[in-house]
Amino acid sequence: MHILLLGKNGQVGWELQRALAPLGKLTALDRHATDYCGDLANPEGLTQTIRALKPDVIVNAAAYTAVDKAESEAEQARQINADSVTMLAREAEALGAWLVHYSTDYVFNGEGDIPWQENDVTAPLNVYGATKLAGELAIQHHCSRHLIFRTSWVYAARGNNFAKTMLRLASERSELGVINDQIGAPTGAELIADVTAHAIYRAMAQPKLTGLYHLAAGGETSWYDYACFVFEQARQAGVKLALTQLNPILTSAYPTPASRPLNSRLNTTKLQTAFGLEFPHWQQGVKRMLTEIMEQYQ
Ligand SMILES: NC(=O)c1ccc[n+]([C@@H]2O[C@H](COP(=O)([O-])OP(=O)(O)OC[C@H]3O[C@@H](n4cnc5c(N)ncnc54)[C@H](OP(=O)(O)O)[C@@H]3O)[C@@H](O)[C@H]2O)c1
Repeated sequence: MHILLLGKNGQVGWELQRALAPLGKLTALDRHATDYCGDLANPEGLTQTIRALKPDVIVNAAAYTAVDKAESEAEQARQINADSVTMLAREAEALGAWLVHYSTDYVFNGEGDIPWQENDVTAPLNVYGATKLAGELAIQHHCSRHLIFRTSWVYAARGNNFAKTMLRLASERSELGVINDQIGAPTGAELIADVTAHAIYRAMAQPKLTGLYHLAAGGETSWYDYACFVFEQARQAGVKLALTQLNPILTSAYPTPASRPLNSRLNTTKLQTAFGLEFPHWQQGVKRMLTEIMEQYQ
């Protein structure tokens, strides 16, 4: 099997380089790749790449992910998250290849407190969510063999993440406010990559598994409770924090260019049942990531 991975240096892309390696030949590109074009802002170049490599599977981990910036760069966000994804879908279909892609709970409006199911009505609140939804719809329309994973609150040990930001701020300040009315499940890039590899392996043998799935760690939390958990783990590991007071705040008290959904819960039953998987509680992956990064703060 030949797999073409796009966006190899993102949070999920980096973990995919590891997780996809045992499945066969892997060509992993980022937007600066020189042998082959891996730039989603260059659809002609990317088309040439796909036609030259003729992969059996295209895994697209590249995306325009700057949620607030997308409000003022809607054209760029649409090109990368929707137009180029449409091209990927068409090229995959022409080759008879699988297209694996990632989307987001931001396709929903965040109302209520029930975990979203795959066929619930979509109504994105911001440009990023609208462009990701357009990408999903294009794949479903143009490519018969696809796996689309909607995920949420992605973190990785590599690069920046919420826990690192909290630890840095807590070492500098005695008081912090963290949003307490957005609810979701922090989901590790490692988990996403491992589930992707398993799903590709199974879907290649059973094409009827094609479809859209929700992929998130188990349980749920708010950013505030997530921060509490990070600080609790840090203190247990002997990290000294200047923080003495953590205040829960409402989303409405913290305006951002892009509106964010309050309910980011994803119901993952479809994916777990179809592929025979059980997703661990979010605290398990976060603990593991904290163990990896904690040394820097001790
Ligand atoms: N992060 C989250 O909380 C979250 C939540 C739900 C869904 N998702 C989805 O999950 C997927 C993976 O996200 P992630 O967290 O791994 O995001 P990420 O860390 O921001 O990685 C995205 C990657 O895409 C690359 N990229 C941007 N523009 C590109 C272009 N024109 N051509 C090629 N590559 C380009 C970026 O490269 P540069 O570093 O060079 O810009 C980066 O390596 C995305 O589809 C995202 O929409 C993410």
